[in-house]
Amino acid sequence: MAATWLSDAVFYEIYPQSFYDSNGDGIGDLNGIREKLDYIKSLGCNSLWINPCYDSPFKDAGYDVRDYRKVAARYGTNEDLIQLFNAAHEKGIRVLLDLVPGHTSEEHPWFLESKKAERNEYSDRYIWTDFWICGAQGMPYISGESERSGAYILNFFKCQPALNYGFLHRTEPWQLPANHPAAIATREALKDIMRFWLSRGCDGFRVDMADSLVKNDDADKSATSAVWRDIRRMLDLEFPEAVLVSEWGRPHQSLRAGFDADFYLDWRGNGYSTLLRDYENHAGEDHSYFKKDAGGSINRFLDDYLRLLDGAKGHGYVSLITGNHDTVRLRKTLEEAELKLVYAFLFTMPGVPFLYYGDEIGMRYLELPTKEGGYTRTGSRTPMQWSSGKNLGFSSSEPEKLYLPVDASDDAPTVAGQEGDPDSLLSTVRALLALRHREKDLQADAAFRAVCTEPDKPFVYRRGELTLALNPSGRTLSVTLPFDVSKALYQIGEAELDGRRLSVLPQSFAVLR
Ligand code: GLC
Ligand code: CA
Repeated sequence: MAATWLSDAVFYEIYPQSFYDSNGDGIGDLNGIREKLDYIKSLGCNSLWINPCYDSPFKDAGYDVRDYRKVAARYGTNEDLIQLFNAAHEKGIRVLLDLVPGHTSEEHPWFLESKKAERNEYSDRYIWTDFWICGAQGMPYISGESERSGAYILNFFKCQPALNYGFLHRTEPWQLPANHPAAIATREALKDIMRFWLSRGCDGFRVDMADSLVKNDDADKSATSAVWRDIRRMLDLEFPEAVLVSEWGRPHQSLRAGFDADFYLDWRGNGYSTLLRDYENHAGEDHSYFKKDAGGSINRFLDDYLRLLDGAKGHGYVSLITGNHDTVRLRKTLEEAELKLVYAFLFTMPGVPFLYYGDEIGMRYLELPTKEGGYTRTGSRTPMQWSSGKNLGFSSSEPEKLYLPVDASDDAPTVAGQEGDPDSLLSTVRALLALRHREKDLQADAAFRAVCTEPDKPFVYRRGELTLALNPSGRTLSVTLPFDVSKALYQIGEAELDGRRLSVLPQSFAVLR
């Protein structure tokens, strides 16, 4: 069962390269995050997820780990990370690191040993076929790169050989069972990495590709789930408050495997994508629910979401995200007025929400050449825009030395530019999160129920005893409520109440008691 602090947790995701550069070398760092903790707190975020900050050749932005126990020099030192944990805790902020269990960098010492012709402790730490010219059953593989006669399986890019947690259904002699001592040794090594950071003050992990461990697993991921349950048992004994959030996307599986929360991932055509990023269709038209007058029915979201929520019930949380380092920033297609309603919705739903850095000011998606394996993701990873100063306040370095360029447009949104303006996106995010922290009914555990999902009416839903109404369209929409409500606690735009008749003006939102 989930750690109790999750019930009012709101996460802020930080891509460390791009948040704040404290020493003027052009790239963000851990001390930079520490300097901005008060800002993060002022948003109403009380928990952080930091993308991988470990030693790495950075061919996939750090998801290619070379040393799990060492902070990458460009971000600082292990001591800096421990200081960040401590400083965050003093302010009531929890910190999750990113755990990459499925693969390492091809430069990890385990892999360098594993490649050797002579058998050694790490020979079976990765998945190898048993002959140099040999297919790998449809899995991506590399051959011709090692002394060892065999090909190795990849988990993602070429630089990311898959760690060996064994196979459920085995069809080849080189496929070890999940209970083979070598597969168990991989799992034990992972536990040790987790202990290493948890014992130094880390509060848990966001787990990368968490469903990818045991190969040839059943569709229900029973074998991979068994590995996680074993890891969870260790945590329950040694670090009972530790939190695990999975990149898995199937909460009915992941939460039963011991995760506390699972992301509702941006998969084309799923409920989440119909809300925000429904534009990759044949005609290139945007049918996202939150796109003014283009969205259609909320039921496209609810049909999928309610199934997820049901699968999560009693086991943990579904995490709604504004975006992440892999998705296109919302501002690419949504205007500020639309974004306000998006955040109003995401931050009043059950589960544990995640805000991606910069989304609170509506940072744009920039068209940029790929950096560190980012490809089309690169445009969502640009430096945080703090002020109108040099490099928009991100760094004192020369602009050509920046990790990625900052938004060069005249109207690039910044924190300083929005602070103090009660109508800004930033102020709206702060107001919404403050409301969430005040009202238990808006937090993770309170019940959710859809009240009105009919076309041409506002979408009305209940959280606990509160009633919420949303109208992303350009017309006033009205509904007669089946119960009495009295006063509005919070509004974006305007909602008018006449007895039980509720009219929600264009692009408006209201929370009613
Ligand atoms: C996850 C990460 C992504 C990374 C991939 C491989 O999807 O979010 O950024 O490239 O895993 O580790
Ligand atoms: Ca720096």
